[in-house]
Amino acid sequence: MQGGASSGGIMLELFGRRLSSPLFIPSGIVGVDELLAGQLGLEDFGFVVLKTITLKPRTGNQGVRVYDIPCGMMNSIGLANEGMDVFMKETLPRLEGLPIPYMVSISVHSVDELQGFNRLAGLDLWAIELNLSCPNVRHNSRGLVAQDGDLIFKIIKAARRLFNCHIVAKLSPDVAFIDEYAKLVASAGADGVAVANTFQGVAIDVKSRRPVFDRVVAGVSGPAIFHLALKRVWDVYRTVSLPILGIGGVYCADAALAMAMAGARVVGIGSFLYHRRDGARAILAEVVKYLEDNGLSWDELVGVAHGVIRDKQA
Ligand SMILES: Cc1cc2nc3c(=O)[nH]c(=O)nc-3n(C[C@H](O)[C@H](O)[C@H](O)COP(=O)(O)O)c2cc1C
Repeated sequence: MQGGASSGGIMLELFGRRLSSPLFIPSGIVGVDELLAGQLGLEDFGFVVLKTITLKPRTGNQGVRVYDIPCGMMNSIGLANEGMDVFMKETLPRLEGLPIPYMVSISVHSVDELQGFNRLAGLDLWAIELNLSCPNVRHNSRGLVAQDGDLIFKIIKAARRLFNCHIVAKLSPDVAFIDEYAKLVASAGADGVAVANTFQGVAIDVKSRRPVFDRVVAGVSGPAIFHLALKRVWDVYRTVSLPILGIGGVYCADAALAMAMAGARVVGIGSFLYHRRDGARAILAEVVKYLEDNGLSWDELVGVAHGVIRDKQA
């Protein structure tokens, strides 16, 4: 059954692939070594989005990189990664051993930079996520790539021409109307939209009276952002019909269910996993039970809250 629940899990389809769970690991949470070590319980996840790679290797940001806050965390990793060459030569071959599908994540700031990723075009990839929204690297004085509508339209259009695989645009929640940006990437040819990346925030150490992070601004994630992310998923679902990868602060089964009800086709478990590596197991079991108890399939759940609201308003 499409999107059905069974005691073994939930089957659903995304971009032509059958997935055995609607939960996924968003980019940057688990590294390839750990994914391949076999300790993580990957069977709880339908797929994983790999750590974002850049054209050149990056050592990442100086100073504090990860900081716990009430109800969540902040990070300023700064896209530390091995770069395209090492990814192609060393990481990609190892990924053949991964028991679940993966999406490659790339950071792109311009159409020219995108062309540098052309070696990915020759590969038989399932999907590429374009991280347009990292709050921890500089774009220009106007802000993040994902806050520049013209630019993301051009980048996604160019990515559509370059890649044969499915393309997901990862948006920033820090825009006035995220659904407008989702509309832009949909019209440029994206196949899916990831809603969303971390929110931009500031932390101040009152002892030193200085910002915690060297770059001052860092990404806020975890339960603190759940209801904010849910609103963005809600808004995007009402505007575009692309599959939504709902991400932001999911920490329990009710939050995962609510993400789906707001319109997320699949639900990311990020920071929660950062703190509790086995955190998805109980969430998945409770989601399966909810579907069974209510005689619903996963597909029936996706966006269902909009129908209720519409009925109520009618
Ligand atoms: C330590 C850390 C590193 C991250 N690195 C990336 C990254 O490389 N690329 C990306 O697109 N998102 C990255 N993210 C954002 C997550 O994928 C996710 O969108 C965000 O954390 C919100 O989900 P959560 O509240 O469930 O963590 C990172 C988040 C954290 C906490």
